[in-house]
Amino acid sequence: MLFIPLFSVFAGLSVADSDCYPIVANSTGDTLTIIKTTTTPNGFSSAAKGWNSWGMQASPDTTPSYPSSLYPYVNQTFVIEQCTVLADADILAAGWTLCSIDDGWYSDITDDYGRMVYNTTLFDMPTLADYLHDLSLDLGLYNRPGIPCEAANKTIYGTDVTVGSTFSGVEDDNGYCYFDYDNANTQVYHNTLIDLWAYWGVDMIKLDYITPGSSTGDAGYPSNSSASAIAYHQAIANSGRSIRLDLSSNVCRDEPNLGIWEANVESIRLPVDINSYGASVFVGMWRIQQIIEQYRQNINYQVDAGKRMSLHPDLDDLFVANPASVSGVTDGQRMTLMSFWLGASSNFLLGSDMTNIDDLGMQLLTSSAGSHAAEFCNGHPLQPRNPDTGSNQALQLQAWLSGPSGSGKAYVLLTNLGENLGHGGYTTVTTGNGTVSVTLDDLGLMGSSYTVEWVWYGNKPTLASGGT
Ligand SMILES: *[C@@H]1O[C@H](CO)[C@@H](O)[C@H](O)[C@H]1NC(C)=O
Ligand SMILES: *[C@@H]1O[C@H](CO)[C@@H](O)[C@H](O)[C@H]1NC(C)=O
Ligand SMILES: *[C@@H]1O[C@H](CO)[C@@H](O)[C@H](O)[C@H]1NC(C)=O
Ligand SMILES: *[C@@H]1O[C@H](CO)[C@@H](O)[C@H](O)[C@H]1NC(C)=O
Ligand SMILES: *[C@@H]1O[C@H](CO)[C@@H](O)[C@H](O)[C@H]1NC(C)=O
Ligand SMILES: *[C@@H]1O[C@H](CO)[C@@H](O)[C@H](O)[C@H]1NC(C)=O
Repeated sequence: MLFIPLFSVFAGLSVADSDCYPIVANSTGDTLTIIKTTTTPNGFSSAAKGWNSWGMQASPDTTPSYPSSLYPYVNQTFVIEQCTVLADADILAAGWTLCSIDDGWYSDITDDYGRMVYNTTLFDMPTLADYLHDLSLDLGLYNRPGIPCEAANKTIYGTDVTVGSTFSGVEDDNGYCYFDYDNANTQVYHNTLIDLWAYWGVDMIKLDYITPGSSTGDAGYPSNSSASAIAYHQAIANSGRSIRLDLSSNVCRDEPNLGIWEANVESIRLPVDINSYGASVFVGMWRIQQIIEQYRQNINYQVDAGKRMSLHPDLDDLFVANPASVSGVTDGQRMTLMSFWLGASSNFLLGSDMTNIDDLGMQLLTSSAGSHAAEFCNGHPLQPRNPDTGSNQALQLQAWLSGPSGSGKAYVLLTNLGENLGHGGYTTVTTGNGTVSVTLDDLGLMGSSYTVEWVWYGNKPTLASGGT
C-alpha cells in the first residue's frame, strides 16, 4: 500500500515551487471587475458539495467511531456510517450529496486488464454506489496518475495490447508505473478504466499527486503528469457518465498548466494538505490563514485575467461540523471557515466526523441564508476589496465582495483573521478584537441604498451610499 509513508512525508511540507503560483500587481481600488463562474469542462454548474474521508484518516483520534484496527484505511461499514448522515433531510436539502472516499480504497493488485479495482477486504463498490444513489447521494473515489507496475504484462480490456507497452519508463519508489501520453493506447487504457468505474457508479474522481506543483516529495514521481488530467477528461466524456474531476494537491497555476486544468477539470486544490496529521483535532488556524492567502492570490489573478471562471478552487476539506475541541478552531473561526469556503465557490467537502455534529455545525451546514449565500457566491466568487482603499492586498481586517449580480445583489464578508500565525501574508494589527469598517465606495458598489441581511445572524439594517 503506498499511501502510508505519506503521512510522515506530508506532515512537514510547506508550499513548494512558488514560481508557478502567479501574483498580479496590487490594485488600488479601481472600478470593480465583477468575476463570474461558468460551466465546467465535464458539464457542472457548481463545485462539489459533501464529505471526504481524509480528515479522519489523517487525524484518527478526532473520531471515536473510527476503529483503530482499521486505521489508516476506511471500509464500507465506516463510510456508510459517515455518509448516511448526509442523507438527513435538512443536510440533504442543503445539497451535501457527495460521499468521497480518499486514499487507500484500492487493491495494490490490478484486475486482469491492469485496471485499479477496490480492495475486496474493504469495499464492494457497486453495492456502495447503489446504497448511496438510493439515498440521493453520490460516490467519489481517489486515484493517482500511475498504476502498479505489476500490470505491465496484462492486456488492455478488449485489445491484445499490453498495458506495459503504454508505459513511459518512469517507475516510482513505490513500484508504480506512469504512462506515455503520446501513445494512442494510453487513452484506450484510460477509457477502459473509467468505463469500469462508471459501471460501478462513480460520480467524482479526485486525482492526486498531479504535477507540476503537487508537493510529491522525493519518491521518483514524474515532474509533469498534467496529461493525465486530459486523459481522464477524455475517458469521462467517452464513458457517457457524468463524473466530476478534481485535481490535487497544490498544482501549478501558471500557463500552460492553468489552461490544461481549465479545459479538463472542475476544480484544483490550492493548498497542500491542511490536516493536523496525527493530532486530536482536525486543523489549525495557521493553515486556514495560509489557504485564505492562497485563495486571495488566485482570485486576484482571475480578476486580473477578466475571464469567466470555469475552474473552481478547492480549499481542501472543511472542518466546521464538530465542536471547537475537535475541529481545532474556535466557534467564531468555524464561521470564518464556512464563510470563506462558501464565498470562494470552493469544493465544499466536509472533513468532519459526521456522527458528532453540534448545534453550530448543524446551523452552518443547513441554514437557508447560508445555502443562499453559497449558491450566489458559487456564481460570483469572493474577491478582496479592502477597507479605506478598495485594494486587493492581504490584511488582517479585510473586506471581501461577491457580485453584484445583474439585479444588484451582492455579498460582503468582513473578517478579522487574527494574529498572523506565519503564513497569512499580512501584518498583525491587533491580537484582540478589531473593527472592520468598509464603505460602499471601498467595495466598488454603485447603488445608492442597500438592504442588508446578515448571513449568520439574520437581522436587516439599511445601508445608504457613503455609509459603513
Ligand atoms: C502589494 O502590497 C503589499 C502590501 O502593501 C506589498 O507587501 C507587496 O509587495 C505588494 N505586491 C506587489 C506585487 O506589488
Ligand atoms: C470494517 O472494519 C470494522 C473494524 O475492523 C469491522 O468491524 C467491519 O466489519 C468492517 N466492515 C467490512 C464491510 O468489512
Ligand atoms: C487490502 O486492505 C488490507 C487492510 O484491511 C491490507 O492489509 C491489504 O494489503 C490490502 N490488499 C491489497 C491487495 O491491497
Ligand atoms: C513481463 O514479462 C516479461 C517477459 O516474460 C518478464 O521479464 C517480466 O518480469 C514481466 N513483468 C511483470 C511485471 O510481470
Ligand atoms: C507538461 O505536459 C503538458 C501536457 O502534455 C504539456 O502541454 C506541457 O507543455 C508540459 N510542460 C512542460 C513544462 O513540459
Ligand atoms: C471581544 O468582544 C467580545 C464581544 O463583545 C467579548 O466577549 C470579548 O471578551 C472581547 N475579547 C477581547 C480579547 O477583548
